[in-house]
Amino acid sequence: MATKHKPKYKRIAQLKTSADFLQYVESVGADLPFDETLSAPSPFGKSYVLKSGRKTGNRFCILPMEGWDGLTDGKPSDYTRRRWKHFAISAAKLLWGCEAVAVRHDGRANPNQLVINEANLDEFKKLFASLVTDHEARFGVADDLLIGLQLTHSGRFCKPVDTRKMEPEILYHHPLLDRKFGLGKDYPLMTDDDIDYLIEDFIVASKRAREAGFHFVDIKHCHGYLGHEFLSATDRPGRYGGSLENRTRFLTSIVEGVRAAVPGMELSVRMSVFDWIPFTKGPDEVGVPEDYNGMYPYAFGASQSGADFDLTEPFKFLELLRLLDIELVCITAGSPYYNPHIQRPALFPPSDGYQPPEDPLAGVARQIRATAEVKKAFPDLAIVGSAYSYLQEWLPNVGHHVLANGLADFVGLGRMVLSYPEMPDDILQGNALKRDRICRTFSDCTTAPRNGMISGCFPLDPYYKALPEAAALKEIKKE
Ligand SMILES: Cc1cc2nc3c(=O)[nH]c(=O)nc-3n(C[C@H](O)[C@H](O)[C@H](O)COP(=O)(O)O)c2cc1C
Repeated sequence: MATKHKPKYKRIAQLKTSADFLQYVESVGADLPFDETLSAPSPFGKSYVLKSGRKTGNRFCILPMEGWDGLTDGKPSDYTRRRWKHFAISAAKLLWGCEAVAVRHDGRANPNQLVINEANLDEFKKLFASLVTDHEARFGVADDLLIGLQLTHSGRFCKPVDTRKMEPEILYHHPLLDRKFGLGKDYPLMTDDDIDYLIEDFIVASKRAREAGFHFVDIKHCHGYLGHEFLSATDRPGRYGGSLENRTRFLTSIVEGVRAAVPGMELSVRMSVFDWIPFTKGPDEVGVPEDYNGMYPYAFGASQSGADFDLTEPFKFLELLRLLDIELVCITAGSPYYNPHIQRPALFPPSDGYQPPEDPLAGVARQIRATAEVKKAFPDLAIVGSAYSYLQEWLPNVGHHVLANGLADFVGLGRMVLSYPEMPDDILQGNALKRDRICRTFSDCTTAPRNGMISGCFPLDPYYKALPEAAALKEIKKE
């Protein structure tokens, strides 16, 4: 057993006062912004008006989160509808997603990912309509609720048919990820023609999203999926690799097509603004970077030494978004498949992860710092920040400072909304937080789908707690 070196980070729930929290934050070198006092009126409650004139009624955004729980034909299930309902009644006025939806079957990340196609269009109409009616029933108005649909192709992480069988569609041979996921040197790459067809699929999907009622579509460029892989395809020859102009041709072509085919449709991009080298379990179960000889060139937005982020290229990408008149940008980082501590900081790793190599607060602080740099350089863009859930009790204090000081325009919430959908409402109302609902980052919402099950908050949501999957998950975790 090589567990004796497991890092012992303090649990946030142990930090009873703001002084305890801030002292601890300093001791782990996390440098987090923080406001001791939450003001009224709250910066969370301020509306935001986009250039198009469309308004969101407050500064909470629900980040996209899938549940691996759609039907095999890509339609939503009751689990999906329940999750979307929770998004609608959270009080957040910006719903970014609400989850990754494949533009075609072979691009699905799992056999239960939603697919937007002609056969499923009515279901998407119903999903959209329910978001509006559920929100309106709770809060009286919905004309200040902005709802997007996140469009995706999962690229290297496609698993369209069998939860145990990856069917990757890749843009280049990545020395570390090919090895990690067992792809040989002769594994075929997507051709430029394949990419041209896929661009058409994104355009058609955007048209359908508009028909279903969605206010914007998100062209996903994060977490190692296909859109993100383009950004590091420096080795790829042809029209879609090499120069940044070529690596962003996928995006520019989709935007051009959507502008022509769906005039007036708002577009957004969720981007991993920095990436990191893949991590693996070290001898003491703590994550260590994979071996790589020399400077690592495949992490978009990382310094070559891997020591920190370097936003030189991401800023060029953001300049392009500005040129393309894309105002809505959601900042995230890394990938849940190969460096989860960068992407969704957690005290307890998912089953395919590793013990955190840094205090998760350092991961939160890194995303907040990168987001603030983006907002400073691009004040005209509407910037959403991610990875706040690990802050737990202190989320309102950090978010308050971020918004009051213009370090981002929206505070995005992911895992927290799975356990505690009403957290935004409680913060806006000035209510005390419900401590027994606060996400403690047990990572069951990732471990379950990694083992072929639906996702959800098994530790804290009574509905998921009572499902047979909860017991199965406990057994898996024991092993
Ligand atoms: C169960 C689960 C599903 C997710 N699905 C998506 C997704 O479909 N699209 C996406 O862009 N991010 C997805 N994410 C990432 C989240 O949007 C978010 O970036 C991440 O959880 C960090 O934010 P948090 O600290 O508030 O959880 C998912 C995360 C979780 C835990």
